[in-house]
Amino acid sequence: MDIKEKIAELRAELHRHNYNYYVLNAPEICDKEFDDKMRMLQELEEAYPEYMDETSPTMRVGSDINKNFTQVSHKYPMLSLANTYSETEVADFYERVHKALNEDFEICCEMKYDGTSISLTYEDGKLIRAVTRGDGEKGDDVTDNVRTIRSVPLVLHGDHYPSSFEIRGEILMPWKVFEELNREKGAREEPLFANPRNAAAGTLKMQNSSTVASRKLDAYLYYLLGDNLPCDGHYENLQKAAEWGFKTSDLTRKCHTLQEVFDFIKYWDVERKNLPVATDGIVLKVNSLRQQKNLGFTAKSPRWAIAYKFQAERALTRLIKVTYQVGRTGAVTPVANLEPVQLSGTTVKRASLHNADIIEGLDLHIGDMVYVEKGGEIIPKITGVDIDSRSFMLGEKVRFITYCPECGSRLTRYEGEAAHYCPNETACAPQIKGKIEHFISRKAMNIDGLGPETVDLFYRLGLIRNAADLYDLTVEKIKGLDRMGEKSAENIIAGIAQSKKIPFERVIFALGIRFVGETVAKKIARAFKDIDELRQATFEKLISIDEIGEKIGESILLYFANQVNLRLIERFKTAGLQLCRTEENIKEYTNKLAGKSIVISGIFTHHSRDEYKDLIEKNGGKNVGSISAKTSFVLAGENIGPSKLEKANKIGIPIVSEDDFLKLIS
Ligand code: IVH
Repeated sequence: MDIKEKIAELRAELHRHNYNYYVLNAPEICDKEFDDKMRMLQELEEAYPEYMDETSPTMRVGSDINKNFTQVSHKYPMLSLANTYSETEVADFYERVHKALNEDFEICCEMKYDGTSISLTYEDGKLIRAVTRGDGEKGDDVTDNVRTIRSVPLVLHGDHYPSSFEIRGEILMPWKVFEELNREKGAREEPLFANPRNAAAGTLKMQNSSTVASRKLDAYLYYLLGDNLPCDGHYENLQKAAEWGFKTSDLTRKCHTLQEVFDFIKYWDVERKNLPVATDGIVLKVNSLRQQKNLGFTAKSPRWAIAYKFQAERALTRLIKVTYQVGRTGAVTPVANLEPVQLSGTTVKRASLHNADIIEGLDLHIGDMVYVEKGGEIIPKITGVDIDSRSFMLGEKVRFITYCPECGSRLTRYEGEAAHYCPNETACAPQIKGKIEHFISRKAMNIDGLGPETVDLFYRLGLIRNAADLYDLTVEKIKGLDRMGEKSAENIIAGIAQSKKIPFERVIFALGIRFVGETVAKKIARAFKDIDELRQATFEKLISIDEIGEKIGESILLYFANQVNLRLIERFKTAGLQLCRTEENIKEYTNKLAGKSIVISGIFTHHSRDEYKDLIEKNGGKNVGSISAKTSFVLAGENIGPSKLEKANKIGIPIVSEDDFLKLIS
């Protein structure tokens, strides 16, 4: 078999396994086998760039080139659907269709997926373009990002599809992925996504497709458009689309009476809570395309379809009191304590009030009857007050607290921020526990066997008051506590001992300095040889480091100005933590590329793109996404994009080959 055939065979195999895994949920091979095949294909493609193909499964990993999206006109405008919350209006719709058609018809009932809509164009069985809805007339070309979504086929199965067609659907972030992403964002003290819809839309518009690839989006397709569709039935066409490899919903049903439609709605209004992705209603579509054509469109939406939206679940209950929670960062969240009420299958007793402005906006009083909603958000929220039920006895007005409920410190509010903070970082219990939890977390010191409950237990028993106390624990001290066996105790102590090997950059991250996330911690470890050099750094020195701005610079200074933190660091030193770069680390860092902005493009033989990025950074350079007059050079592998090459030549940016680059830094 020649190379070209081998590549084609591997591609076909990987497309099929990908489909089995992401569309059918029925993998035939294990992850390792899949990865091995993928690596083999990557290596072949790197060695034979002449066979490069945009629809290869290797394209799904994305690239770290920043992209500005180009606008593309939709061939058929992307209209929206008429919406209703009322069953009567559904019956009216049914009656209108019946009258207009004056013949039998079927209604296709589908889930209304709550994500962000997408239009995919396929030509000769290959995905050639993916465009967002935009203003309905034109949208953004997000093809590179959509290619990373594993359930979107890059090449179609069989050969019974039209040579050119469009298929529309919804891009979604599954609940699980959304929750995990928010957990990670929370740990990095970044603002959270309010719901999976915003998370999916935000991700799809990210400029870096390799980040998109890591976000695990999914896509359900629900609307075929084109001149040569196989069937007259919309439902039947979607079944064909499923045969071509698309992920279509298997919850869709054809109904023959209005009662069947209502039964479908009623069933899914409850059952949708068990679906892996968010839905916000049911879409009813007249099934026959011929009949759809007869019914036509209004200026905004088709007359052959309607969306029945589920009521955002809402309940009315009494506000008993407002309490305040203090988080790891000291942010204070007001929480409404409510008379228990049933809401979408759970009993709600507490709801978030977010911040002081929200409380003020609601003009909240104790004893008020309040509306609680569970929208796409996870935590229920108060959306209004039933003013009419306020009797002659108005309760006390809710005013945001001035002092920390945990430690009594006066709260502060930073300019431009909605939240109030407790500034007592080193002696406020939830902040201390939160800091220790961060310290032991996987991406920081990764201490096995220790979790939030154990931290809480040790804290309550007075065994730990800060992260350094962990290193004074012994098996004797902790075994037998709260049913902790000898084995668990030994594991914890071994995990703590093991953490002394964690490299400098992760120790810096583990310290929990405000705004110092993983990436910044790495930059710091590159810029300073040890913790003492970092401690003595001036503001100017700090902000001269890539990615460190004034906010982070100030936060670092503040951290080291605090005696409590300095004592902590002394104890970490005594315990033997890695508070300096190792010889190994140091050798890797040079200033050979200091001040250089470097664009990476093409396919490489000796290292992966990520490795080159790392090499650039370790040698003091900066990896940037697009070519501009400020670019120092383009590190070019095989098959550098023609537009990049043209641009580089036009503004006279040198092109450096892989081998020359390696010589440069050797
Ligand atoms: S059909 C011409 N089917 O809801 C109508 N839309 O307001 C084409 N949506 O923008 C849309 N699930 O993003 C259709 N099963 C479904 C849907 C669905 C969600 C979204 C879509 C559209 C919006 C309509």
